[in-house]
Amino acid sequence: MRKFILAANWKMHKNPREAAQFFDEFQSALGSGGLGKGANGGEKQVVVFVPAFDLMTAAECTRGSKIAVGAQNVHFEVKGAFTGENSPIVAREIGASWALVGHSERRSLFHETDEETAKKMKAASAAGLSAMLCVGETLAEREAGKTMAIVERQLTAGLAALDMKALATGTPTVAIAYEPVWAIGTGKVATPEQASEVHQFIRSRLTKSYGNETAGAISILYGGSVKPDNAKAIGAQKDIDGFLVGGASLEASSFRALL
Ligand code: PGA
Repeated sequence: MRKFILAANWKMHKNPREAAQFFDEFQSALGSGGLGKGANGGEKQVVVFVPAFDLMTAAECTRGSKIAVGAQNVHFEVKGAFTGENSPIVAREIGASWALVGHSERRSLFHETDEETAKKMKAASAAGLSAMLCVGETLAEREAGKTMAIVERQLTAGLAALDMKALATGTPTVAIAYEPVWAIGTGKVATPEQASEVHQFIRSRLTKSYGNETAGAISILYGGSVKPDNAKAIGAQKDIDGFLVGGASLEASSFRALL
């Protein structure tokens, strides 16, 4: 059974001291029991994508806990003359176990292409990091009836270079996050039906490319203005296997409420 993943994306928020405080509060809120099962029936997993400067602190604060930490972006080479970039190998060495790839802010603000997301997915997996590929359409694309075409293009490109059979069930693994760009940070959440329609489409594409067993093992998260008051209805939909959360992940209490 695929996992139910609750993932935080802090974006460019929190310094190491604030990160440590979050983990302290979040772990107290979690208590000592297990995380339990998600709405999809799978084991729950928590991943927190922190700014690169917070990775070491986050890794130290979560060592031996049920919380995994991830980098929000890694380069596709492991070292070299790439001023300002972060190596996936070093991210792994300092305690990250995940990398987020192709977030819409990376695509739109930093002009990341499908080709680069493909290379980053490959580099992250090769470095031993589980990789979460973000896909999603803009409002103009949705209104033009291009949602599925955009999602399919980003999905196919992002996963093209991977051994999906091995990654679906192994460690490192791979996950998909569907985030309609118009719902990110806007307070406009997709309806449960809108989200589920795209999630089912993603599952069908994965099945077509990789077969039932592999496609069925991959968690597909929804992201875009997920809050404690709308999460339940979205999470209950078919093929929604967790959430990728920005704003509501910054406070330990609201993030805890999504579990
Ligand atoms: P949001 O961000 O929850 O603040 O909409 C989600 C994301 O960008 O991953």
